[in-house]
Amino acid sequence: PPVGDLGGLTVLITAGGTREPIDPVRYISNRSSGKMGYSLAGAAFNRGARVILITTPTSLEPPPGVDVVRVETALEMHDAVMNRYAEADVVIKAAAVADYRPRLKAEQKIKKEGDTLTLELEKNPDILFDLGINKMEGVTLVGFAAETENLIENAREKVRKKNLDLLVANDVTLPGAGFGTDTNIAKLIYPDGSIVSLPLMDKPALANRILDEVIAIRSNHS
Ligand code: C5P
Repeated sequence: PPVGDLGGLTVLITAGGTREPIDPVRYISNRSSGKMGYSLAGAAFNRGARVILITTPTSLEPPPGVDVVRVETALEMHDAVMNRYAEADVVIKAAAVADYRPRLKAEQKIKKEGDTLTLELEKNPDILFDLGINKMEGVTLVGFAAETENLIENAREKVRKKNLDLLVANDVTLPGAGFGTDTNIAKLIYPDGSIVSLPLMDKPALANRILDEVIAIRSNHS
């Protein structure tokens, strides 16, 4: 593995949008492409980290050298993350986790019958929140937030509630930001409420910038 400023650290990264099954052939998901998480995984590996990438199905090829764990649903991602949390020095949750899943998965393909169909949804666990409440000394927790309104207020609230060291927030309504794009326009939000606004960056460059912040946060703590 390459030598670099993340040498000796294990970085756990989640990527992609979860898929929540409705029946054997259908699911609910979101527009996450996985690009941000895969960029982070590649960048962390190139800087010497041991990388665990917990990913939903995406159209991307995982970067060589990373340990890949494949999941589909939020519940599977929750289990996979909890299984590997003890190994991690840094956790970066770039995945877009569905907040709700269908309460029941129909055993057979649902038939086209009535004019309307109601799906009952049930809340998924908040993986990052569960990591935050069990945060061990020396672990750095980084979250992402895609917002369409009140970006800063929502982001500050999330950093606090989820006990994060850093939140990368982006307004997904801006052109060039967020889901599916090759670029992002991010704001870095810290636990003290301070904010750094970054310019439009491609996702690999933003990944390296986030890793620079992780190193700075870790050196301030030690
Ligand atoms: O609360 P919100 O979904 O905006 O928070 C986004 C952050 O929380 C992301 O880092 C995402 O991966 C994480 N998250 C999670 N489990 C959920 C929902 C969000 O880990 N159920």
